[in-house]
Amino acid sequence: MKCRKCENKASVHMRQHKLALCKEHYLEWVPEQTARFIKKYEMFTPNEKILVAVSGGKDSLSLWDILVRLGYQVDGLYLGLGIDGGINYSHESQRLAEKFANENNLKLHVVDIEKEYGHSIPVLSESSHRGHGKPCAVCGLAKRHEMNRIARDLGYDVLATGHNLDDEAAVLFGNTLTWSGDYLLRQGPVLAGAEGLARKVKPLCRFYEREMTAYAIARGIEYIYDECPFADGSQSIFYKESLNLLETARPGAKLIFYLSFLEAKKAGNLFIERSVGHAHLHPCPRCGQPTSTPDFCSFCRMIEKAQTEAAE
Ligand code: AMP
Ligand code: FES
Ligand code: ZN
Ligand code: ZN
Repeated sequence: MKCRKCENKASVHMRQHKLALCKEHYLEWVPEQTARFIKKYEMFTPNEKILVAVSGGKDSLSLWDILVRLGYQVDGLYLGLGIDGGINYSHESQRLAEKFANENNLKLHVVDIEKEYGHSIPVLSESSHRGHGKPCAVCGLAKRHEMNRIARDLGYDVLATGHNLDDEAAVLFGNTLTWSGDYLLRQGPVLAGAEGLARKVKPLCRFYEREMTAYAIARGIEYIYDECPFADGSQSIFYKESLNLLETARPGAKLIFYLSFLEAKKAGNLFIERSVGHAHLHPCPRCGQPTSTPDFCSFCRMIEKAQTEAAE
């Protein structure tokens, strides 16, 4: 098949868009589309300072690459989680994030959870008893806390993550299966900021995972192929596989699922009343970030607990 834009042979075929492009035109198309989504969902303006959370994976490194190519002021943040899993997962992902930053002359902030708080994610997970023996819940909590802390302390206007359509559709699927109204109301390409909370954006939310893989490879970005070793057997992987079955039979199903949700939400047609907001927030007495739990925020509680247990 030929490229839609030139005479060359197409190298990326996107059935869901009925579009095929050669490598060169694909590498133009991705940033063009990203710029369109940034504008459409009012994510940020060229004057704002962006912090992109990079995990060393294809999505977040590609996002960084795209935003730089579009001319935005964007620095990176890597969080060292202390996960080994027999594949040296955290070390290897940090190495690749640093390599990308060095090669492109970009600024990368590195925060190591263990150095900062005394315990790695797997150790915190053991002592907190959250998440039934899997560290993912603790890891998510720590990542959100640290991303927001760095964005706020270093004066970034907005925090960008590399979530793609497959990630977003899987979360949406999970929240729909349980009709989790609060989560559904908060899910979207942009989560508005509030006093002490950075605005969060997901500029890749309309790209299929395989589109991001194709982009990273075509750009020659070296990224970590392995998933987090704890992701194996997780619910989100099961939802992704289920949606892929649907997608195979009905190309575009995933995109329609997500976009129709956004449309329905915008039109106020979600059948969930109540408005969303950051209700009843007060500053955590330990770290100062806004929290809705009484007294210390969940993150600081977890750290306190780990420190008490370590001292015992
Ligand atoms: P995940 O939750 O692993 O699917 O990652 C979703 C997004 O969170 C990634 O695209 C990154 O933007 C960000 N992220 C995940 N892990 C890290 C990390 N260790 N350091 C910084 N950002 C991360
Ligand atoms: Fe956090 Fe796997 S537990 S990335
Ligand atoms: Zn072409
Ligand atoms: Zn706190």
